[in-house]
Amino acid sequence: MLLPRSLFEMEVTKPSSKSDRRRFVLSSIFFIFFLCVLASINEARFDALLKFGRCTVDSASSLSLQTATFNSSDDNLLSVNSSSVSNDTDIRILIGILTLPDQYNRRHFLRLIYGTQSVSGAKIDVKFVFCNLTKEDQKILVALEIMRYDDIIILNCRENMNKGKTYTYFSSLPEIFNSSDGGGPNPPYHYVMKTDDDTYIRLNSLVESLRPLPREDLYYGYVIPCPSMDPFVKYMSGMGYLISWDLAEWIRESEIPKNNLEGPEDKVFGEWIRDGRRAKNRFNAKWSMYNYPEPRTGCTHELWPETIAVHLLKNQEKWIRTLTYFNVTANLKPSKLYHIP
Ligand SMILES: *[C@@H]1O[C@H](CO)[C@@H](O)[C@H](O)[C@H]1NC(C)=O
Ligand SMILES: *[C@@H]1O[C@H](CO)[C@@H](O)[C@H](O)[C@H]1NC(C)=O
Ligand SMILES: *[C@@H]1O[C@H](CO)[C@@H](O)[C@H](O)[C@H]1NC(C)=O
Ligand SMILES: *[C@@H]1O[C@H](CO)[C@@H](O)[C@H](O)[C@H]1NC(C)=O
Ligand SMILES: *[C@@H]1O[C@H](CO)[C@@H](O)[C@H](O)[C@H]1NC(C)=O
Repeated sequence: MLLPRSLFEMEVTKPSSKSDRRRFVLSSIFFIFFLCVLASINEARFDALLKFGRCTVDSASSLSLQTATFNSSDDNLLSVNSSSVSNDTDIRILIGILTLPDQYNRRHFLRLIYGTQSVSGAKIDVKFVFCNLTKEDQKILVALEIMRYDDIIILNCRENMNKGKTYTYFSSLPEIFNSSDGGGPNPPYHYVMKTDDDTYIRLNSLVESLRPLPREDLYYGYVIPCPSMDPFVKYMSGMGYLISWDLAEWIRESEIPKNNLEGPEDKVFGEWIRDGRRAKNRFNAKWSMYNYPEPRTGCTHELWPETIAVHLLKNQEKWIRTLTYFNVTANLKPSKLYHIP
């Protein structure tokens, strides 16, 4: 705020004569009056500013994953810790997409993919998950993304393959979303999922498949090996698997995962579950989850309406064919602003 300089100076200048003193008193009174007016304007403006701040936050989040998936303007990004807007009967799901800090374009693309899906009766948070930043430019670019989208989780780890990123992810969640801190719902999420950045998840189908399932001691996914339909033998594929919150807490507390961190992550995950005698509830989502039809293997399936997830979308062509098949742009509203044949 620019203060009128002369007023300010007059106050501090010592008056030398009587008329100067008069002028000084008058201008002091005026100055005080001016301050009061300023303060009252500012108060009003401050309120407006607060409201404006909220609006900006709201509109920012309405473009981002969470809000868009619930289609509710109240349900903004900060709703993770506020129970007031969420319905107790809603299923709460965290989807963590494990990726690398430098995958900016992939994240922007996936924000489109998930931000345009709407789901009712569920609260789904999609977050990108990676380890410590390592480059100077990441500190700016990732921070900007967080300011804009608030959909990133940075774990305390160094990027690795087969050295425990999955462990760090699941075991960090109880602390990151500690519900005894903020008075949010307990558990913060009924289910937490780990998935790849080349997997396409259809959120509505996922929610519908989860609705009848237990919310405790559950291990859900695509059973490995590919021909197997028995979820009690091996483990779930890294294309995407989901566990109930109590299992994330168990992973945090148990010694079993801590003592078996190295190796192919999803296979090792299956060993923890086996050795800990966990997950008496298991759900094999095959063939609603599958690898993209080509190249054809024992793990692939044709695109079909009953799909929850398609994996190995390794290039744009595969994404486009998949998105086309599922009619994802069918609800584009007509407008004079554009024409898409
Ligand atoms: C979003 O909510 C509005 C108002 O509640 C409703 O009219 C609209 O159909 C909803 N859109 C979707 C995609 O569910
Ligand atoms: C919660 O959702 C259920 C089913 O969608 C609905 O019947 C119920 O009225 C909702 N409760 C509140 C408090 O919104
Ligand atoms: C990750 O970063 C944090 C904070 O900058 C640091 O304390 C921690 O040691 C780092 N962890 C690893 C594994 O490098
Ligand atoms: C959650 O917060 C409570 C209270 O601050 C603390 O006692 C507890 O250890 C925390 N739990 C985790 C998993 O960090
Ligand atoms: C996509 O739209 C077409 C034409 O309306 C319809 O025949 C087809 O069943 C839809 N596909 C899916 C997966 O919903």
